Amino acid sequence: MIHIEKLRKARDYEAQYGAFIRAEERPAFHLTPRVGWMNDPNGFCFYRGRYHLFYQYHPYSTQWGPMHWGHAVSRDLLHWEHLPAALAPDQRYDRDGCFSGSALTLGDGRHLLMYTGTRNVPREDGTKTTVQTQCLAFGDGENYIKYEQNPVLGEADVPEGFSIHDFRDPKIGRRPDGGFACIVGNRSDDESGAILLFESEDAIHWRFRSILERCGNEYGKMWECPDLFELDGRHVLLVSPQDMCQAGLEFHNGNGTVCLIGGFDEKTGKFERDRVQAVDYGIDFYAPQTILTPDGRRVMIGWMQNWDTCIAPEGSKWFGQMSLPRELSLRNGRLIQVPVRELEQLRGRRVHYENVPVRAETVLQGVNGRLLDMTVTVRPQTADAYRVFCVRFARDSRHHSSVSYRPDSSTVRISRVHAGYNRDFVHERKCFAADRGGELKLRIILDRFSAEVFVNDGEQVLSMTFYTPQTADGVCFEAQGSAVIDVEKYDLMA
Ligand code: FRU
Repeated sequence: MIHIEKLRKARDYEAQYGAFIRAEERPAFHLTPRVGWMNDPNGFCFYRGRYHLFYQYHPYSTQWGPMHWGHAVSRDLLHWEHLPAALAPDQRYDRDGCFSGSALTLGDGRHLLMYTGTRNVPREDGTKTTVQTQCLAFGDGENYIKYEQNPVLGEADVPEGFSIHDFRDPKIGRRPDGGFACIVGNRSDDESGAILLFESEDAIHWRFRSILERCGNEYGKMWECPDLFELDGRHVLLVSPQDMCQAGLEFHNGNGTVCLIGGFDEKTGKFERDRVQAVDYGIDFYAPQTILTPDGRRVMIGWMQNWDTCIAPEGSKWFGQMSLPRELSLRNGRLIQVPVRELEQLRGRRVHYENVPVRAETVLQGVNGRLLDMTVTVRPQTADAYRVFCVRFARDSRHHSSVSYRPDSSTVRISRVHAGYNRDFVHERKCFAADRGGELKLRIILDRFSAEVFVNDGEQVLSMTFYTPQTADGVCFEAQGSAVIDVEKYDLMA
């Protein structure tokens, strides 16, 4: 009885307090929690005709707390409808949190959630540690019942040399032979990230298969939220490492997102990596999860936030949002991301300019807004070719955010230094873009509290959130030296 109570309490709370949040207080097409706090996407799937997206959820405050699973559904990946919370931390094995996990449709039509149960236990010296196990819940797309023999993967299933304390975020999938596989994030004894592979015939009884991949301290200490899938004839492994060390402009310190491109060897159960790159080069992106859509697209969604910069604006009733869903492909050995094509259906008024010379600050009539999809192509003027080109947005006399490009180093910089934050944390980030003699294409998507910048048709993406007042809706262009730009801008409809 007491168990159902915890979920009921969360459902009552979110129904009551979620209703106080007006639509304009949220992004228009990025998912936010019904109320309170959100982190990782969980259980992203297509089930019974709709996309389902669950999320790490603490309804009672805008800070992380005992993790529940929030739940939303959508037909187009952009308009989300909140459903009642799906899981609450109400069992012995998950009493300190229902951590991240994934979903799958079983042969009999039931919906299966696989998640990490977390419980804190005392050590001999009186301090506390955490034990993490993998658990199941069965449901119908709205109500879920936890499997009575949870956990299905426990301490005894973790191979020697790997951690029972950092053992989380199962991503479940089908094997080609009809069975099931799941990969789970781990920290190995050398204090570095690793992924464990497990197999099952019925999705209930699991056994350890192999160490899928480990990084020997090259990419962070603990690999969270893994995903593994086929893409354009290769295999891609996504992981979100904690405690990364900076490596040039590819990886920054702290929590990062890493994409390993290579091959999965079915015989050995190992991943052979060829290339490694960051997933998102901006400030806010973590723990992405992917699905294969019914029409065969690999679509990824991430938590558009970073652990080290989680400061909710004063008075906000929600904190944390998902990224745009992005279609993935491989081009020249790199991961390419573009906004899902459904976004084009939200396009309203179009404004188009060609061959506009830019030197000093340039404002173009009709180019403004906080809900927009804008593509800017910049080229150098032969005489006095530009040294820096900059697009400013979410702008008024006191605020702006920006994306800028320096052709001499071929670097793109995203900045929210002047977005209105008065706290000292990360406000800028840079990455390399392909050097095309000063030509660059930027697709900038704004949705009230965020910007996602797709560089050169998705070769790099930089995402960031900001809470600048909505009245700051100006856009301007500026070059040091001479540039020529084309601009195609659509208002996006809420
Ligand atoms: C990643 C993460 C996961 C964990 C969850 C807890 O952001 O740390 O590893 O399951 O968040 O909320």
